[in-house]
Amino acid sequence: MKLPKTWTMVAQVQDIDASTPYLVELNDRMIALYRTDGVVYATDDTCSHAEASLCEGTYHGYIVTCPRHGGQFDIRSGQAVKMPTVSPIEVFPVRVENDEVYLSPDDL
Ligand code: FES
Repeated sequence: MKLPKTWTMVAQVQDIDASTPYLVELNDRMIALYRTDGVVYATDDTCSHAEASLCEGTYHGYIVTCPRHGGQFDIRSGQAVKMPTVSPIEVFPVRVENDEVYLSPDDL
């Protein structure tokens, strides 16, 4: 029998700036949170190109720009959309309840 997923509160919706990713840590993973058009997204914080922190960069809409070399990712899919990034970053399901943001350790 499969156990139900567990969820951990990691932030409040209002903590997440509209242009700077918000860094949280869960189970030793560094995760970037974004808020676009009222929806919260979560990706790995680490750029797949050379391991810069995406939370030191900025995002506009669905596109986050890495601060080190300017590579870009779509925060909905994790797909690399601008060189020099070619490999995707991981994305994680997000749950929002009463303005609280939850991630599941089961997804990490
Ligand atoms: S480290 Fe992110 S684009 Fe190079």
